[in-house]
Amino acid sequence: LPRMAPPARHKAGVQKVLYVYLSISVAFSYNIDLQHPLVFRGPNTSFFGYSVLEHYHDNTRWVIVGAPRANSSYSSSVVSPGAVFKCRLHNNPERRCTEMDLGRGNQPRESCGKTCQGDRDDEWMGVSLARQDRVNGNILACAHRWKNVYYDSEHILPHGYCSIIPPTLQGQTKPLIPCYEDYKQKYGEEHGSCQAGIAGVFTEELVVMGAPGSYYWTGTIKVYNLTSDTFYSPNKDSIDSHRYSYLGYAVTAGHFSSPNVIDIVAGAPQHSGCGKVYVFKIDGTSLVKSFQASGKMVHEQHCVFAKCFNI
Ligand SMILES: *[C@@H]1O[C@H](CO)[C@@H](O)[C@H](O)[C@H]1NC(C)=O
Ligand SMILES: *[C@@H]1O[C@H](CO)[C@@H](O)[C@H](O)[C@H]1NC(C)=O
Ligand SMILES: *[C@@H]1O[C@H](CO)[C@@H](O)[C@H](O)[C@H]1NC(C)=O
Repeated sequence: LPRMAPPARHKAGVQKVLYVYLSISVAFSYNIDLQHPLVFRGPNTSFFGYSVLEHYHDNTRWVIVGAPRANSSYSSSVVSPGAVFKCRLHNNPERRCTEMDLGRGNQPRESCGKTCQGDRDDEWMGVSLARQDRVNGNILACAHRWKNVYYDSEHILPHGYCSIIPPTLQGQTKPLIPCYEDYKQKYGEEHGSCQAGIAGVFTEELVVMGAPGSYYWTGTIKVYNLTSDTFYSPNKDSIDSHRYSYLGYAVTAGHFSSPNVIDIVAGAPQHSGCGKVYVFKIDGTSLVKSFQASGKMVHEQHCVFAKCFNI
């Protein structure tokens, strides 16, 4: 603001106007300093900044950054698994960011269940980040291209993988593979290719993960209740089973209908070529549709997608 003070040669009238303007600014404005940004950089071609998140813990402010094409220093034998970085906002003159150890080890293959063997190559860790809505919030970081290769002679199953990271940003992380089920081996069918975590949101008690590949890309969402350790999904009648709708490509949650109700929102951007948004409420262990809205067709063209689905 001092720099904005009018030079003495300005006419009094202009000064008065500026003075009034500045007084109002002092009371109401929110300044973004465009001249002195803090710039954090990551490895070239790592897609550093694909997702970003603010985090606060123990009097320290952080920016958490996803770099889904990065090589990981904790998993050097995995090909481009992606990485999540933490960048301290204050007392960090060199603007250094450090990779977080998500505790995944250095094995390219990981055992994850009776008929589950994880393949982390190109898993896109850090494609989405979300933070629990409270003081000392946990962080959700996902890798939608994580694959189960247990049946790899017939089917490679891109289930997707998410980690819950504690507020300290170190120590034990909790894995979530919401689309894995013992003995399910078909690609496309049910959740075989669900790619959970391409989008995610974290409320106080729920982890919401979009899974656009389920049911031949009809898509769905997977909601994990931390307290009960159970998953909720939309009930069958709630969603139109249009293939290639990509339901779950974007998700959010909040108290939109009433202060005590958690409404979960998910986008299906390719539904009928126009897109559709659903709002769900929790009813027992299922999600029941409470609202839907369709998009309008743009230029008679189908939606354009930026995120990569290729395996
Ligand atoms: C990364 O990219 C920047 C900008 O293009 C370039 O100046 C720099 O030399 C690159 N660094 C490496 C290690 O390739
Ligand atoms: C990761 O490592 C591979 C193999 O060494 C290399 O080809 C690739 O360029 C690296 N990726 C990044 C983002 O540094
Ligand atoms: C999560 O589960 C607990 C225990 O069953 C239940 O009391 C709570 O209402 C659930 N939370 C939500 C948001 O549904």
